[in-house]
Order: sequence, then structure tokens, then C-alpha cells
Amino acid sequence: MKNILLISLIIHFLILTGCNNNIQSENRESDQKIDSLISVMTLEEKVGQMTQITLSHLLKQDSTGVIEPFQLDTARLKEAIADYNIGSILNCGGHANSLEKWNEIISAIQDMAVNDTRLQIPILYGIDAIHGANYTQNATLFPQQIAQAATWNPNISKNIGTITAYETRASGIPWTFSPVLGLGRKPSWPRFWETFGEDVYLAGIMGEAITEGYQGKKLSDDSTKIAVCLKHFVGYSHPNSGKDRTPASIPERELREYFLPPFEKAVKAGGNTVMLNSGEINGVPVHASKFIIIDILKEELNFKGLVVTDWSDIKYLHDRHKVARTQKEAVRIAVNAGIDMSMVPEDYTFHKHLVELVKSGKVSKNRINDAVKRILRIKMKLGLFEKPVTHYSDYPQFASKEFSSFNLHAAEEAITLLKNKNNLLPLSKNKKVLITGPAANSMAALNGGWTYTWQGTETDKYIEENHTILEAIQNKIGEKNITYVPGSGFNERKDINKVIRASANADHIILCLGENAYCEKPGDINDLYIPEVQKELALKAAATGKPVTLLLVEGRPRLISKFESEMDAVLMAYLPGNRGGDAIANILFGDANPSGKLPFTYPRFPNALETYDHKHTENLDPGKSPTSFNPQYEFGEGLSYTNFSYSGLQLSDTVMEGDGEIEVMVKVTNKGNRKGKETIMLFISDHYSSITPSVKRLKKFKKLPIEPGKSRTVGFTINREDLKFVGSDNRWKTEKGRFTVSIENLNQEFVLK
Ligand code: BGC
Repeated sequence: MKNILLISLIIHFLILTGCNNNIQSENRESDQKIDSLISVMTLEEKVGQMTQITLSHLLKQDSTGVIEPFQLDTARLKEAIADYNIGSILNCGGHANSLEKWNEIISAIQDMAVNDTRLQIPILYGIDAIHGANYTQNATLFPQQIAQAATWNPNISKNIGTITAYETRASGIPWTFSPVLGLGRKPSWPRFWETFGEDVYLAGIMGEAITEGYQGKKLSDDSTKIAVCLKHFVGYSHPNSGKDRTPASIPERELREYFLPPFEKAVKAGGNTVMLNSGEINGVPVHASKFIIIDILKEELNFKGLVVTDWSDIKYLHDRHKVARTQKEAVRIAVNAGIDMSMVPEDYTFHKHLVELVKSGKVSKNRINDAVKRILRIKMKLGLFEKPVTHYSDYPQFASKEFSSFNLHAAEEAITLLKNKNNLLPLSKNKKVLITGPAANSMAALNGGWTYTWQGTETDKYIEENHTILEAIQNKIGEKNITYVPGSGFNERKDINKVIRASANADHIILCLGENAYCEKPGDINDLYIPEVQKELALKAAATGKPVTLLLVEGRPRLISKFESEMDAVLMAYLPGNRGGDAIANILFGDANPSGKLPFTYPRFPNALETYDHKHTENLDPGKSPTSFNPQYEFGEGLSYTNFSYSGLQLSDTVMEGDGEIEVMVKVTNKGNRKGKETIMLFISDHYSSITPSVKRLKKFKKLPIEPGKSRTVGFTINREDLKFVGSDNRWKTEKGRFTVSIENLNQEFVLK
């Protein structure tokens, strides 16, 4: 009885959230509430909070799996929530759901958590809403992260975060497993397109922006915001083989200089949760690394949020990585290394093992309390105690026209014009075009993975209103001027000869090549070249003598060097999302001016995968040797239908001392006759340093609209921070000496004293 009284007092206390403008005292207050709650929790309840189960496990099933249309299985739900007191549920049950279905699911889950458990702690529901609320039918589905990076416009990522948060909350879900903050420096890695590209600075800026968009300034401000999950900490994007979840070898110095900073920035921006890297680095699985989870993330970066494992990754310490002799040992290693929540996700073995480990003293009670505190803190910040379910009727802008037109704008800013021989583009709307290629009539190709389903291959079944490239061009110039012949599949031969015959009637060929949707391990490849059948289609199209515009719809740079010289124009569309078809049509026919720039180096050969920030020894004889650095397209490349010229690069000083700053000014002129947007990129090269310097590193950028015939002067401020690198002792440092600032084709030197 005493116990019940105490609990109801605590719960009452939890509900009374005071209005306090002082964030620090607010935090202190909620920490006190959490401590009081923890003080009455049993070990089993605490370990339950650390357990995350997938939705499919809670659905009615028969011998073939989940029965569709799916229904929650009350007995399974009761086992999870009332018996095991689990803290979190994830995923979508196999496919996107309607708002109504989401409401039914989340309401039933929260009802049980609040009514059928002793402490009434709400469930933290998490989902991979990575380019919009991609597991909710009709949601606004944006360009994937690699395309967002190509906009070089952090406001776009911020707005994508804001709208995604709104539509995810409309679905009743408060937590997304996004953004990916790994760097895309391994072009064949099947999650390349989930990154913000190869550069540490660009990825950091875009990651910070989308984090702010998802979470707002202060998460608890309103129920249109969701918690982020910064993933996958750290080094996941860099497996030696380029295949998913294979070993990475990353020296600590490089880990700190390249892979940590985007996470550090997003943690500073308030990122509330972190998901770990499923792979191993230098022989140690990250889920077993106290050094990475506790020493670096929780202590050095002072991360106070929740660390969740990736899918099944504690079990894999035993099954795959073979560092734990038993499943129980795997749990001990991972929890002691600092994980707070296990994405188990299909049974309760984690719960059982962890309770036993605490009872036998192999895992300390303090470690458990620390984990539970982090979990409850996020539940509280999200306002789940006060309002466990948000209802779609409170989100009238879900899938609105405004969101859709912003989506179109985002895709237009991403698409990157890489080649435009004789100014072939934009095309005239009166000419006859032949459209061919496997990506021409596919919404799946435009969206990629994590779209309505995990692999994204069923996307075309879900889309009603959006347009493939073919449909968008039909809308733009009318069907009578268009002939469509698929030509080939992504990997299968089709009607290539028909293309040749049909070209006789056409003024232009629009060739849509690339990749079908995929993600994670199923997207592994052995060959970075674009599949043979697509190459053949390209060469046949070129041989017709008609001008060919190559449209690339792909999540990673599939090599095109065996036919690129035959192409007249090349547009990189990446994975531009549901409005990608319309955006492509607008750009092809001149209703939008392209302004995207490549956020990675597009390689020419599979054995030449150097990044733009390579070392001098990777390019000893620039332009002279057949093996000189000579990618297909360079990082930052991207043309416009107008021309920009740069002049008057000036530094405010030629010497930087102490905490001093140097102002950098440059004038950019729009020399053409169309309005356009230009991204001005500032690189710095360190002439000599104790760690071999890169040829250059991106340090600042700004994207600006410039009217035709007009100039704009752009200013940047650089200081010592921009000259730092990680030394051989694994610490950040600067060294005196000469540096060059370069913007476009202009350079100026200064000295650091
Ligand atoms: C992926 C994560 C994802 C998780 C939950 C894993 O397979 O690696 O990125 O968040 O599944 O769906």
C-alpha cells in the first residue's frame, strides 16, 4: 500500500510540469523526477526499459509470418509491455501504414503502457523516417541525404527535418533513426546515399541543420518535433571492402579528424540519441568498445543522451563477430561498454541475461541506472508522460501542397548538371524526344531504399500522385512529342534495338540510367561500373547520332567512363524523392536552373577512388601521368544555365596571430542572362605540417542567388580553428607556417604565427 502511494505521488509529480524559463533548472528538476522514478523501479523494470522490440514481433502471425492486413496480437503485446516492461518499440511491420493505422497501433501500445504497467511509463516508439516519414502512406518523401548534400543549402536540410518531424508526429511517432553522419568516402558502399557525402565539413553543417529541423531549439517546446538518432557512431561508412558491415581499419588519428567531427557538431546541436556502428574497427566491434562508447562519446563529447544498438548487434557479438563466447557474455560486454538500449529486437533474451548479470555482479547497478536515466530523460523531453500519443487530426498540414512544393524545390536544388556540350540543355519544348532507360518510368529508382518498405522496391505500388521522369516530361511537353522505349532493365537486356528504330523520329534522346532501389547488405556490389546492359544501351543510343542527355538516377557513383565521352549532356539526379521526376523535367526544359554541386568525387576507374582531399603523393604529377588524379567529375563540380565568374579575392591580413581572424572577400558575377544560384566554396591548403597535409580541405561555403549581370561580394571569416589537424598524438593542433586560401580559380597566401 505504501508503495502504491509513493508511486502515485511520483506519477502525480511527473504530470505537473512547471513552467520554467531557466533551462538548467528545468533539466535539474526533470533529473530529480527521473531519479525519484528510478528509485522505485525494480531491476526487471529497469532492464525492460533498456529493451527494444520490433513491431512485427507484436503482430498476429501464422506459420508464414505476419498475417496481413496486420493486427496487434494482444497476448504478444501484453508479454512485451506488461510482463517485460519494455521501453521501446521500433519499425513499421513490414511496410508503410496509413495515418489511421499508425494511430490505432500507437494508441494501443501507449494504452497498455499507461494502463497495464505498475509505473505507467510510456513507450518510446522509433522509426527510420530518413527522407520524410517514409513509413507513412502519402507522406512527403524528400531527396535522400546525398541529394540534400548536393544542394549545399543547409536551410533545405533544416526544412526537410522540420517537415519530417511534423509528419512523423502526425503518425504518432516521436523518434527517428536519422541522420546518418558517416562520410561517403567509399563509393561502392550500399549506404553511400544515406550520407551527406565525402567531406567532413559539409557533412557536419548539413547534419547540424537537419538535427535542428527535426528537434527544434528545445525538443519539449512543441509536439511537432521529434528526437534524432545520430548514426552510426562511428566509422561505419568506411568498411575496407566497401561492402556493408565488413571490417574497417581506421587509425585513431583519422577517426578523430574525419569521422568524429560531424557527430560532435550534432551532439553540440542537441542531438538526443545515438545509434552505434554495426561493424568493427581495427578488430574491435563498436558495440563492444568502451573506448568508443564511453570514453569518446559519453565522456569526451559529453553526450548525455541515449545510446541504442543497431539491429541485433549485441547478438552478433557472439554470432558474427565472435568476440563473445555466449549470448550472455555478449550482453555483458555491450552493456559494460556503454550501450543504454538494445535493439534486440525479436525476443527477450537480452532482458533475461541482463537481469542475471546484474544479480551476479557482472554488470553494476550504477551502469543500469545510468542507462535508464538516459532513456527516461528522452521520454520526458519528448513530453511522452503528458501526451503519449499525438493524433493526426492535430497535423492538418500533413502531405500539404506547401510541403510538396518545397519538396520540388529541394529536388531542383540538388540535381547537378555535370556536362552540357554546346549548351544542349535546356531542351526546347517543341522538339521530339525519345525517352529510354530503366530509370525512366520508376518511382522506386527516384526514391531508393527506406521508402514505404525497407528495400524500397515496392514504391510504385504506393505512389498515386507523383510522377516518374517519363510522366513528368509528358506533363511538361505533351505526350505527342514523346516516344518511350524502356531499352533495358537495370541488369536485364530488353528491347535495345527498338531504341535504335525509335530514334529515327526523335530530335533528342533522354537516357535514364542508374540503380533500382536497395539498402544495406542487399545493396552490396562486386563491380562499381554501371551494369553492362546499361552501358550497351548508352553506346547504342549514342551511335544513332542523335544528341543524348544522360540522366543518372543512382545512390552511388556507378562508373560511366566507358561511354561518358559519347554523351552530350549529363545530369546527376541522385535519389531525388517523390518530386524528383518533376524537378528533372523542370531542369531539362529550362523551367528551373540547376544549382546542385557534387558532394563527392565521381570516380573514373574502380581502382582510382581518391577523394578530393587526397594527399600530395596521390597526385604527384597533376595532369601528366595516366594515373594522375583524374576523376570523372570533381567534388564541388556542377554547372548552371548561366555563367559565374570570380574576381578580387582578398584577405584582410597576410598574417594570423593568436586568436586573430582573417576576413576573406571575393566577388562573384553572373555573366549570363539567367538568374542562378552559385555555391562559393573556400578551401585551405597547409603547405607543410608534421602530418602530411591534404592538397586542400573545404573550410567554408555559402550558396547565393545572383541576378543576371549582377555581382555579389561574399565574405568569410577564418581563424585558427580552420587550420587545425589531428597530430600523431591523436590531439587537435595547429602548426605555424604558410597556408593558401583558394576559391574557385583564385588563391591567396597567409602565414600562421
Ligand atoms: C540499420 C539502421 C536502422 C535499423 C532500424 C538497421 O538494420 O542499420 O540504420 O536504423 O536497422 O531499422
